[in-house]
Amino acid sequence: MTEFRLTQISDTHLARRLQKLTDNFHRVGEHIDATRPDLVVNSGDISFDGPTSRADLEFAKELHDALPVPCRHLPGNHDIGDNPTAVGPVPKQPATEECRKNYLSVVGNDRWRFDESGWCFIGLNSLIMNTGIDSEAEQFDWLTSELSRANGKPVVLFLHKPLYLNTPDDPEIESSAIRYVPQPRRKNLIDMFAEVDLRLVASGHVHQRRDFTYRQIRHVWAPSAGFVISDAMQERIGIKEVGLVEYRFQPDSFEVRHVRAPGQTDVWLDELIGRQ
Ligand SMILES: [Fe+2]
Ligand SMILES: [Fe+2]
Repeated sequence: MTEFRLTQISDTHLARRLQKLTDNFHRVGEHIDATRPDLVVNSGDISFDGPTSRADLEFAKELHDALPVPCRHLPGNHDIGDNPTAVGPVPKQPATEECRKNYLSVVGNDRWRFDESGWCFIGLNSLIMNTGIDSEAEQFDWLTSELSRANGKPVVLFLHKPLYLNTPDDPEIESSAIRYVPQPRRKNLIDMFAEVDLRLVASGHVHQRRDFTYRQIRHVWAPSAGFVISDAMQERIGIKEVGLVEYRFQPDSFEVRHVRAPGQTDVWLDELIGRQ
């Protein structure tokens, strides 16, 4: 295969009771059916509330399984709980091994690596970072081993939370610590990927579309496929819209397209919560 086409969706937040989000997922599914990428990656927050509702995870998995192309997933904070941070408040639902195992049993692997069209693709569970639970260290050991076998190939990293807003030196501050991979693990990760030819970091979580390049590494923030968050609840640092991202990888190059599936509608979180 000389060209590998990958569609990234994110933050679908599926639950049987939230029809507007299910409708948006179906519009995305129809677009995927029409375009037939080689792979779909959901970069997390697959379910609306996985830690307290296994049924949400099961419903989300069922809908992904019905897509007409292969799909890989990564967990988000709404699937397995959130990271503790040095400066921010303690998360209401911290990531735990129990929540992670629940995710593994319903959805499948929370990390993966595969190679296509001369590229090495790595997906990581970003929510266990900084937790100290056993799987955090296991994942870093696994990552060390996988990166040692990248064999000079260009590398793509998928994870739920972005690494940083603008630069690796951005300070971790209370108001936004929960938005990015927490320190000191963020620095560990950046140092590990400095040993390979990292070209692209693809994330979700923020529910805003953003695309920037820092020192030859492109950072793509996929918007939510399901809903957007008002300015009153969240500062505007990118484009607030629902949508998805399409990539085409060829040996040594790639293209990015920012897309909205036909019929996909901007559902606002306040409206969603108000009608629950
Ligand atoms: Fe989300
Ligand atoms: Fe998230």
